[in-house]
Amino acid sequence: MNTVKSGKRRSDALVLFGVTGDLAHKMIFPALYAMAKRGALNVPVVGVASSKWSLAQLRKRATDSIKASGGIADRRALHRLLSLLRYVDGDYNDPATYLALKNALGKARRPAHYLAIPPALFTTVIKGLCAAGLADGARVIVEKPFGRDLASARSLNRIAASVFPQDSIFRIDHYLAKEAIMNILYFRFANSFLEPIWNRNYVASVQITLAEDFGVKGRGAFYETAGCLRDVVQNHLFQIVALLAMEPPTYRGFGAVHGETADVFQAMRPLKTGDLVRGQYAGYRKEPGVAKSSDVETFCALRLYIDSWRWEGVPWYLRSGKFLAETAAEVIVQLKSPPQRLFADSAPAPGGTNYLRFRLSPNSAVALAARVKRAGEDFVGDQRELYLIDERPGEEAPYERLLGDAMAGNGALFTREDAVEAAWAVVDPVLTKHRRAAPYRRCGWGPKEADALIADDGGWHNPVPRPARA
Ligand code: BG6
Repeated sequence: MNTVKSGKRRSDALVLFGVTGDLAHKMIFPALYAMAKRGALNVPVVGVASSKWSLAQLRKRATDSIKASGGIADRRALHRLLSLLRYVDGDYNDPATYLALKNALGKARRPAHYLAIPPALFTTVIKGLCAAGLADGARVIVEKPFGRDLASARSLNRIAASVFPQDSIFRIDHYLAKEAIMNILYFRFANSFLEPIWNRNYVASVQITLAEDFGVKGRGAFYETAGCLRDVVQNHLFQIVALLAMEPPTYRGFGAVHGETADVFQAMRPLKTGDLVRGQYAGYRKEPGVAKSSDVETFCALRLYIDSWRWEGVPWYLRSGKFLAETAAEVIVQLKSPPQRLFADSAPAPGGTNYLRFRLSPNSAVALAARVKRAGEDFVGDQRELYLIDERPGEEAPYERLLGDAMAGNGALFTREDAVEAAWAVVDPVLTKHRRAAPYRRCGWGPKEADALIADDGGWHNPVPRPARA
């Protein structure tokens, strides 16, 4: 399956709304620099913001961002990027901003507009682009979270589709462009040994952890509008579930993958209050931009079910949080015990059975845990991992990949309208109806209520630190 489609015309300019913001600083400038290093950035890059900056300030910001993300090894590439930068200052509600943008775009006729701005402003900008004639022949790239609930996602989809053709709308979820996550799709369908056991008959439960050992890092104001469920669960974690749970794509094309992904979300049972544990780390309310009495969750643990033939009755446990003990992401597919207890230790308690582990970050690996006999007279053994290190030095970073793909008109690694809405439909019931966030201490694994949620299935596997390199 190839994600690169030919025949589409490349965008002839990149417009970055929100160019002075956090996302541009952390992700977009480093991605543009990487593209410039590969010789893959040859179009004007027009930043738009309402920060009253000068072009010189923007260039400095871009340089600082690239320095902070790993240094400037290639000064020619940096200068190339800086020479392509333009800056338009203005209010997104003001038609004059779009006129200024039109001027800055010069001869470009097929810009890609990247909305790295708060979701509440998406509609304003899309309408502004349309009114100024800047949507014709253009593409729009929209950051997650796409909407903040089912109703707003539907309305945003409607507005975007009234201005841009579907194949010109690119909804970003950068997890889809991570090598370790693309490998889930590959590993499942490029091998034949998994399929016979990949179902409710052999799988006891699945758990996914996305843990971070840092807090909101100055993004308190954004986080107050989102919380963990909207920030990473409805999108990043659900996309991982979809790749693990989907049926085999019926043809060789990403349209088939998108269809199967959307079907997984359709089959997910909408969450109930008791399926969700919310937590908040100690000191969150003292973060800049955070309300003193905030109930926004910085941790989520949830149990969900996929009501399909394949997964009926198999619980899926998802958890994510800030200020946990590690920064790591991992999937554990826990298999059932053997049907007969032939050896004293061959039918271990839930959680002690064979499993498949996908390590997604910070390193990437696939491991299969199986029992092996210990030397000696007794038939007893230990569970050991067959460990497949799966690291590719020099791989493209997700934003570099996604920006390039969107500008080339390749939508393979972006999320489809129906999938986004179906994913919102699963979390929608608990966005407002939920228990209060339970406080948890920093550097642990979240509130104890999260342990109770999974107790019957053997508890959480806490990801271990990145192994030392040999
Ligand atoms: C972002 C969230 O989408 O994903 C952040 O807004 C989170 O809160 C980040 O930290 C995690 O992404 P990654 O690539 O660092 O695992």
